[in-house]
Amino acid sequence: GLGHAVLCAKQVVGNDPFAVILADDLINGEPGALKQMVERYEKCQCSVIGVQNVAREDTGNYGIIKARPSEPRTHVVEGIIEKPAPDKAPSTLAVVGRYILSSKIFELLENVPAGAGGEIQLTDGIAALLSHERILAYEFEGKRYDCGNKYGYLQATVEYALEHPELKEKFRTYLKGLKL
Ligand code: G1P
Repeated sequence: GLGHAVLCAKQVVGNDPFAVILADDLINGEPGALKQMVERYEKCQCSVIGVQNVAREDTGNYGIIKARPSEPRTHVVEGIIEKPAPDKAPSTLAVVGRYILSSKIFELLENVPAGAGGEIQLTDGIAALLSHERILAYEFEGKRYDCGNKYGYLQATVEYALEHPELKEKFRTYLKGLKL
């Protein structure tokens, strides 16, 4: 699982805070979502998790946080749970593929048992980290495409093409010519 994948980077990262990017979560933001989160990190010097509001019916696809609001777009994380059913979800704030994490998480991931889906979950490592350190969630600005499913991948392809300086005119003409 994702927790094990992150743990594999332990030797490379060492004792520094580090970022995790889930590449199937494509985010079109200016500045980029991770840059927004780094700016937040520089103020708080603690782990920062990227979140967005999702429909309650979709909570089972995400890590979901329990949190209380602090500054604008910022929440103090009080709990986190991987893929809860809508009626079990503590909020609709979903973790969306961007994390800045303290290296303390590595020793915790080494002891996290398999969780949702029988996988070692990064979410469970973050839940363990909460007992040691403060963690903030940041609602970054930007449009997120879920490229982990075919529909989201297609949306991203079309929308990026329509913004692309070299391709946009040609692509728009192509789309208009399609007999839909
Ligand atoms: C992973 C994480 C989940 C997170 C999601 C974001 O799940 O385990 O907490 O909300 O990415 O895309 P996956 O999509 O790999 O099932």
